Amino acid sequence: MSDVAQRLTFRNIGLVGTGAMGRGIAQIAAQAGSTVHLVDAQPAAVEAARAALRDTWDKLVAKGRMTADDAAACLQRLVPAAGVEALAGCDLVIEAIVERLDVKQDLFRQLEDIVGPDAVLATNTSSLSVTAIGSRLRAPQRLAGFHFFNPVPLMKVVEVVAGLKTDAGVVQRLAAFAREMGHTPVLAQDTPGFIVNHAGRGYITEALRIAGERVADFATIDRILKDQMGFRLGPFELLDLTALDVSQPVMESIYHQYYEEPRFRPSVIAAQRLAGGVVGRKVGEGFYRYVDGQVQVPPEPPAPVVEALPPVWVSPGAARRAELLQLLKDLGATIETAAQPSERALIVVAPLGHDVTTVAAVERLDPGRTVGLDMLLPDGAVKRRVLATNPATRHDMRAAAHALFARDGKPVSVIRDSGGFVTQRVVATIVNIAADICQQGICTPGDLETAVTLGLGYPAGPLAMGDRVGAASVLEILFNLQTVYGDPRYRPSPWLRRRGALGLSLLHPEE
Ligand code: NAI
Repeated sequence: MSDVAQRLTFRNIGLVGTGAMGRGIAQIAAQAGSTVHLVDAQPAAVEAARAALRDTWDKLVAKGRMTADDAAACLQRLVPAAGVEALAGCDLVIEAIVERLDVKQDLFRQLEDIVGPDAVLATNTSSLSVTAIGSRLRAPQRLAGFHFFNPVPLMKVVEVVAGLKTDAGVVQRLAAFAREMGHTPVLAQDTPGFIVNHAGRGYITEALRIAGERVADFATIDRILKDQMGFRLGPFELLDLTALDVSQPVMESIYHQYYEEPRFRPSVIAAQRLAGGVVGRKVGEGFYRYVDGQVQVPPEPPAPVVEALPPVWVSPGAARRAELLQLLKDLGATIETAAQPSERALIVVAPLGHDVTTVAAVERLDPGRTVGLDMLLPDGAVKRRVLATNPATRHDMRAAAHALFARDGKPVSVIRDSGGFVTQRVVATIVNIAADICQQGICTPGDLETAVTLGLGYPAGPLAMGDRVGAASVLEILFNLQTVYGDPRYRPSPWLRRRGALGLSLLHPEE
């Protein structure tokens, strides 16, 4: 055995289930130096996994990322096994079989009688309770969740999940082994969705809600979130990639496992599309259409040409009012400074959380001439401006606002009235769910940030995202969204409320 292997936390691993996940885990374990004994209910699956990994390593050699000797050694460390009985000498057995509680319970019951007393048992389940999987074991303390993401070699994070009875030492050893395989472990309590699939509820669910209200079409919502917040994929692009037959059951499962928590309420739009088979890229049609594998993105409506722009009056309550006035000046607008707008003025409001309608009504502004601009973030920090009309906004005023804010060439999206525009709603929802994960002690704030950036590829962790906007602003948005929608899904988590009230960072841990 090599020196490297000697130092590994687990040298002899059993891997049960050699499908998509099992072979990925086998790859990184073998690369770290462990011997991996492969078992599958379908004997052909083990050979298929070995052949696929041989291919992978050949490609890495061809690209110069691995030596031929190392590739050969890795392949040698993959040992086909006829059945679970062959795993007697393993110090760790990882399960990546079918996602069914009874089948996983039976497997671990069987393994318990085969492996030695100090061997660790791990499940790669993504949606079942680790506690329930271990509940039939004589020694449930030796079982933990070891939740990898697909594709395993590229997704460098793994959730190490402690069930109710899991020994702390088992969690530590799995975390150490994850690092030895080049992955970053994050520690999670056994709760529905663990960290990543729980934190990931905000982005998709809120975007579906926004689309369901016909605030904007799918492509516009995607453009807004990419250009304003720096998300790599818009929520509908992401849904098309994952496919609704995979993501909708996860949304429903987490919603029900949390006893119909309104924050996680799934969308009828997604359910309907799943029922109709319009599930995503893999079938050529999802929220977008695909021709020869190429996404068909509907073109953006161009900014209208308006001969003479009206003067502009800005509400005294506008968010970032000074910046907004400066922006209007830079765009060459004629700005009215009187206490009330003139009869001709275009009226601009910039609410946080409220809709344009509410602001127009409360401030007694002429709704026909009132439009909203999202000023959540400084104009210099966004690649797109978002305007919202209200149901009474006149066509000429909408066109004038669009033309004015597009004057310097920055893209402008015009959406229907919505509390919190698009970005405010989505960001506030993501931050709120993340804050609640911390409030429940599911993981540390630091591990949450790591899990979300590595597991979901967000441009920043959700708490950092909240700090960027300011916890007080996120709170204000949520309070106002509750007023606009009367929906408990927007009630702020105590974690957010307390930190917002005290002016603390959302990353500030509680002693
Ligand atoms: P898969 O269907 O690609 O592979 C499962 C393999 O397990 C198959 O080869 C099957 O023959 C084998 N198998 C089924 N029952 C067995 C049993 N009783 N004994 C031995 N082998 C058995 O599934 P995939 O996608 O690899 O998922 C496996 C596990 O990983 C599931 O628990 C899933 O929830 C979890 N997971 C999946 C992710 C994904 O994106 N696919 C991500 C994270 C976790």
